[in-house]
Parts: sequence; structure tokens; C-alpha cells
Amino acid sequence: MNIKEVISLRKSIRTYRNEPLSRELRQKLESFIESVKGPFDTKMRFVIVDSSNEANNSKLGTYGVISGAKTFICAVVEPSYRYEENLGYAFEKIVLYATSLGLGTCWLGGTFNKSAFSKAVGIKDGEFMPIVSPVGYAKEKRSLIDSFMVISAGSKNRKDWSELFFEKTFDIPLSKEKADPFTDAMEMVRLAPSASNKQPWRIVKDGNVLHFFLKRTVGYKNIVGFDIQRLDIGIAMCHLELTMDESGLKGEWTVFNPGFTIDSNTEYIISYRLV
Ligand SMILES: Cc1cc2nc3c(=O)[nH]c(=O)nc-3n(C[C@H](O)[C@H](O)[C@H](O)COP(=O)(O)O)c2cc1C
Repeated sequence: MNIKEVISLRKSIRTYRNEPLSRELRQKLESFIESVKGPFDTKMRFVIVDSSNEANNSKLGTYGVISGAKTFICAVVEPSYRYEENLGYAFEKIVLYATSLGLGTCWLGGTFNKSAFSKAVGIKDGEFMPIVSPVGYAKEKRSLIDSFMVISAGSKNRKDWSELFFEKTFDIPLSKEKADPFTDAMEMVRLAPSASNKQPWRIVKDGNVLHFFLKRTVGYKNIVGFDIQRLDIGIAMCHLELTMDESGLKGEWTVFNPGFTIDSNTEYIISYRLV
């Protein structure tokens, strides 16, 4: 499977078969997780925990949102400048790798029992756990609460290009033709998962540079105790860069603030420049 196929295939899975991961898939996942990196130098670690482990004593709850999952990937960070984007990027890489192995995942930033999960991974001073994801075999039929989550977040919908991508300033929507050579990669950004499916990424293309902005959802900042929409930007960066890499074009992340924005809720984050 190529990266565009993997990204198109991924969706949040909240209903799992009551089956542990095969030894082979678990080993693959473990070795991928050991080497995964984001574009920035921030401290993070990923730990796989099992709810069947007696020490966890079935306390690894998700408020009923996830059913049947036996295994979770937990993200532990030491907060520092750009840790959110870095975590978003690296965790999405893991999610996409799990998808390529045929496994289901679901980003959880709110609906999990933080203290039980933190205990299970042995959180140290200065660390915290913003995100976990179940990982396992999807059950064919969604649970009722799963179907409810999909409908309430409008998870199957994505905004149109005209709402997300712009040319030179925010005044002109970017057409797919004018997005070349970023067209496919930007389409892959459009398909990215985001917290409550808010899709807060906005991109302004200027020549061979893409400026990434975060259009914040009002009242959403720190709703779960950290800046969750900056994780969404990291996820978008991951989709963009993996797709560009696969097309053979190389770029770099750089701070290149164009000095404009569209409104007070929209802030510049970072730029991607072809090299
Ligand atoms: C950072 C982040 C946090 C999320 N937190 C939760 C959560 O706490 N509970 C949940 O059920 N889904 C959560 N989601 C899943 C989103 O609702 C889902 O990605 C979005 O609705 C798009 O649906 P899709 O993943 O099926 O494409 C989260 C997604 C992201 C990216």
C-alpha cells in the first residue's frame, strides 16, 4: 500500500474484536514505535499497554467510547516548545503504520481515564500523557456509542478545498491545478483526522512554500488541559511530508511567517519549503 492509500483507508475505529494482537504484528508495532520521530527535538515516548494485564486491573477505561480493545498505545511527553506539533506528527506516523498492518486505531485526547493510563505506563515527574489510542482488529459492526460519535463529530465529512487552502493571501482560494506540485499532499492533509473533526488547518501557498496556519475553534483551547489543536497541525504536517516524500520531492520545515492572517483566531504556525 502506498501512503495515499493508507491515509485514505484510515478512519477512527472504536469497536474492536475481543482478540489480542498477534505476536508478529505486536513486534512490528513495537519496533516501529521505538524508532519513530517527529520534525522537532522534543522529549516523547510511546508505550504499549494491555488492559488484560492484571496490574491494570481493567481500569484502563475510555468512558465506554471504545469497546473490545485489549491493547493501547500511550503517548507520554515532557512539555516544551513545539511538543504538540511533534507529538501530533509522530503519533500519526504510528497510526498510519498500524493502519498499513490492517489494524484499527482511534486518537483519544479526552475520552480516557488519564490517571489509570498514567499509572499503567509509570509516568515520571515532568511528564504527562495527552493521547492514547486503542490498537487492534476492527469489529465489522460499530457499537451504538461508536456510531453516535461518528455522527456527532460529522466524522465522514471534510471541508472543501476552498475553505482550507489559499493562494498567496487568504483572499484567493487555491485551485487543485494551481496547487501543483503539492496537490496530492494537500488532499492528504484534507483527509487528516482532527479533534472533534474540527479540521483547523489552513494553508497558504506562495510559490514553493506552504504556510501552515491554525484556525482555532472558539472556546476549544485547553479544553482537555493542553493545546489539542496544535496536535492537529502536527498530523497535517505528517500527511503532507509523507506524501511529498513518496512523490520524490524533498522539503524542509522552517519558520517563515508571511506576516498576515485572516482573523484573530487564526495564527501562523510553520512553513514547508521545497529544497
Ligand atoms: C487530537 C485528536 C483527539 C481526539 N480525541 C478523541 C476522543 O477523545 N474521543 C473520540 O472518540 N475521538 C477522538 N478523536 C477522533 C476524531 O473525532 C476523529 O478523528 C474525527 O472525527 C474524524 O474521523 P475519522 O478519524 O474517522 O476520519 C480525536 C482525534 C484527534 C486527531
